[in-house]
Amino acid sequence: MRDYSITIIENQEKKQKPDPNQLEFGKHFTDHMFIMDYTEGTGWHDPRIVPYQPISLDPAAMIFHYGQTVFEGLKAYKTQDNRVLLFRPEKNMERLNMSNDRLCIPQIEEEFILDCLKQLISMDQDWIPSAEGTSLYIRPFIISTEPYLGVAASKTYRFMIILSPVGSYYKEGIHPVKIFVEREYVRAVAGGTGKAKTAGNYAGSLKAQEVSEKLGYSQVLWLDGIEKKYIEEVGSMNIFFKINGEVVTPALNGSILEGVTRNSVIQLLNHWGVPVTERRISIDEIYESYKKGLVEEIFGTGTAAVISPVGELNWEGEKMVINDGQTGALSKKLYHTITSIQNGNEPDPFEWTVEV
Ligand code: COI
Repeated sequence: MRDYSITIIENQEKKQKPDPNQLEFGKHFTDHMFIMDYTEGTGWHDPRIVPYQPISLDPAAMIFHYGQTVFEGLKAYKTQDNRVLLFRPEKNMERLNMSNDRLCIPQIEEEFILDCLKQLISMDQDWIPSAEGTSLYIRPFIISTEPYLGVAASKTYRFMIILSPVGSYYKEGIHPVKIFVEREYVRAVAGGTGKAKTAGNYAGSLKAQEVSEKLGYSQVLWLDGIEKKYIEEVGSMNIFFKINGEVVTPALNGSILEGVTRNSVIQLLNHWGVPVTERRISIDEIYESYKKGLVEEIFGTGTAAVISPVGELNWEGEKMVINDGQTGALSKKLYHTITSIQNGNEPDPFEWTVEV
């Protein structure tokens, strides 16, 4: 491993912290940020923690033109006894490198970055809110910086980590949302970039979201890009169905993001002895099960919202109301268990949390 030394420049003017009771998702940023640069031939260099500040880039920087970029999302929590916990951060580092590979961005040293992240969080730990449902959202990301308009992989990159104190992703907290089953637009196809956490996947999803919002829905249910039949994700989350006592989630097929919360839910269900299967599942199957009264719960999973119950699915005008539009018992139990492990309020049988 390269012998890095991290430069630290402390912010002399601490910013005013937001009201912990009024936190919105991703609006406020802490006093410091992490930066590290990459140059072809040299590798990653100059890791540093500096005051949070704007960055300056050449207008020809490749990120602006061809979108060669990746990001991650994870959270830090303050426990009642003032410890700081991260939730499965090694999974995010691993996925960042998987995304890097797909986007032709050089690999990072996962352990080293985790160390840098811990140092950054320690410096800004006063920013971690402790009220229920709040946390410090961590956004690591890498952008291509070479000023060049040829379509090729950049020869230079910048890695940054910024931190944002957040409340619940949805203002209402854990509350069922209405979902529109999308038939026109698709999110990803196998062989594309759907499996990677890269900006283009999110930019490409905005149109469908905008259309669904105009129709009174919060998000869309994404179907596969070829047959437009098999269920993939919901909004920017993975999706689970509880049908006749069994939990089903779409199998990872190359176009679905390998969610850390998705993986944690599957492990928890196995631990509780609730049957859970990863397989292909079509929207027709959901509709048929719904007609038979077998669809008990539907929920999305993601870092930002943790568990997001679905109260209604609109499939070509057929409105499927799930669990009378209420949050189901399994969704509640999963939300409570995962957030309690994250906050250090419940034993952590899987050793998911890592102390900073
Ligand atoms: C998540 O569920 O954590 C997401 O992917 C949403 C995030 C991009 C804000």
